[in-house]
Amino acid sequence: MRKPAKIIAIASTAALLAGSIAFTNIATAADDAKAADPVARGKAVAEDRKKGNCVACHAYEGASLAGNIGPMIGGWLKQKYKDKAALRAQIFDASKANPITLMPPFGRHAILSDAEINDITEWVWSLQ
Ligand code: HEC
Repeated sequence: MRKPAKIIAIASTAALLAGSIAFTNIATAADDAKAADPVARGKAVAEDRKKGNCVACHAYEGASLAGNIGPMIGGWLKQKYKDKAALRAQIFDASKANPITLMPPFGRHAILSDAEINDITEWVWSLQ
């Protein structure tokens, strides 16, 4: 009788822990989406699987479960794109630079709003 009780105790502790971890993540993502800082908001939109989902194709410093279909997102982009507007144009519609790109035209297809694309641009521009 002692063993099943122990198993139940361990299982319920694990369930409680998993629940609180999941809840913490949701709370953090929602807070970031409403943050005053555009960089934090942009990161939240970029990581949101139903929004930018950039991480499905791009890796960046600290990304978890990142894809490798597109190049690494990082500070090196500041050398390639002369200013934020040029970088924003790439995120708005990647098919302008590459007509057969796999990257969704986030702005042209209104997948993301103008404000969300501005925030993502701020986030990418802030990377080292
Ligand atoms: C379905 C895959 C996919 C998704 C999702 C995606 N990208 Fe891309 N991205 C690519 C590919 C592939 C390239 C390589 C260039 C090309 O083919 O257009 C690219 C290129 C880029 C570039 C230019 C890199 C260079 O070399 O100039 C930037 C910046 C970029 N992506 C940012 C983003 C951001 C920000 C998001 C999320 C809002 C995103 N991407 C979502 C596939 C993706």
